[in-house]
Amino acid sequence: MLKGKHIVVGVTGGVAAYKACELVSRLSKQQATVEVMMTEAATSFVKPETFQALSRNQVVTGLFQSVKYWEIEHISLAQKTDAVIIAPATANIIGKIANGIADDFLSTMVMASTVPVVLAPAMNTQMYENPIFQRNMEVLKSHGYHFVDPCEGLLACGDIGKGKMAEPATLEDYLINLLIPKQDLAGYRILVTAGPTREEIDPVRYITNYSSGKMGYALAEMAKKRGAQVTLVTGPCQIPVPKVDEVVSVLSTKEMLQAVMSRYEEQDAVVKAAAVADYRPADRAAQKIKKQDDETISLALVKNPDILWELGKIKKDQVLVGFAAETENLVKHATSKIKHKNLDLIVANDLTLPGVGFDHDTNQVTLLFPDGRSQQIPMEEKTKIADSILNEVVHLLRQKHARK
Ligand code: CTP
Repeated sequence: MLKGKHIVVGVTGGVAAYKACELVSRLSKQQATVEVMMTEAATSFVKPETFQALSRNQVVTGLFQSVKYWEIEHISLAQKTDAVIIAPATANIIGKIANGIADDFLSTMVMASTVPVVLAPAMNTQMYENPIFQRNMEVLKSHGYHFVDPCEGLLACGDIGKGKMAEPATLEDYLINLLIPKQDLAGYRILVTAGPTREEIDPVRYITNYSSGKMGYALAEMAKKRGAQVTLVTGPCQIPVPKVDEVVSVLSTKEMLQAVMSRYEEQDAVVKAAAVADYRPADRAAQKIKKQDDETISLALVKNPDILWELGKIKKDQVLVGFAAETENLVKHATSKIKHKNLDLIVANDLTLPGVGFDHDTNQVTLLFPDGRSQQIPMEEKTKIADSILNEVVHLLRQKHARK
């Protein structure tokens, strides 16, 4: 499956370096071009010759071999590669990358690289749980670095706990999923809404909310990667817009309603991740509202249309997915929205949990279905949460199409 892919395997100094041999062997058997880059410490655990034989390529080791070599080879390697995987990744290399330190071939190549970088940590449990290491890991995750979590087991130091590097087969699967996303949404049209809506009070003021659009953008991006034809209807967001088939920018709830309704008929699924304003000012002042002498003023608000409810009302075969952002009684409130809005699935967010909901790179959600089933998705990056939600969308689409 990885035929034609170019993968750099970085090996750092840990006992698990021996497992990198199996990883390199597996990738070579998949006919990927594999280049191994070892830190100086890694060469104390496995000889470069072993990797050379397994990868059938020259192995780069330690410090820069020469300035000329560094300038040419190192930059070109960073650019022709499809992915970099560092396995094992010690606390040291993770700390260096997280803090912008590039003092050897591997750390410099990672810094010059624009391709996905996968890190497979391996270390003693206390080191893994150390808050400084955890912070470094979070920093890298927030910059899009991928982590394959270590497992629990007997560690080289004799302790039993978390820190054992993920198995080579797991790392191989991770690379396959990363480089060759499954195409299980091919042939389906999906519309995703994202971000906040903005309700103007006057020419200089508006009502909005903290939504960043990250969850909706991740859903649109992952749906596209999985082969869907994707329309993204987005409120005003400050993050890069994913490459999808159609992007419709809107401001107000009414504009979002219009954009979604006019495209609803042709969709197979609609995922409403947008944080829609429930109310808007009754009148938008034509001129800037001037400060009054009174200590208080009131702003009259009128109810906005509930887009999802409107979609639920006229739903035919579409899969309809809603979000529920709650600060209390998560399951009760979210469940009532399933019925009220005629949904096939609701993604419930408990906004009181740290790292959950608006503006975070991570999320933790509960998926609730009309038949009472529920599924917890633990704290993950939003792209991974998006993938889990889309797995359910695929099931629902298949069920609906099988019934046709
Ligand atoms: N939604 C919508 N139109 C609105 C309000 C919400 O389409 N006017 C959608 C959201 O995109 C989300 C779902 O409905 O998918 C639930 O939104 P949420 O704000 O959690 O719930 P509300 O129905 O607005 O109820 P409440 O604010 O009372 O919790």
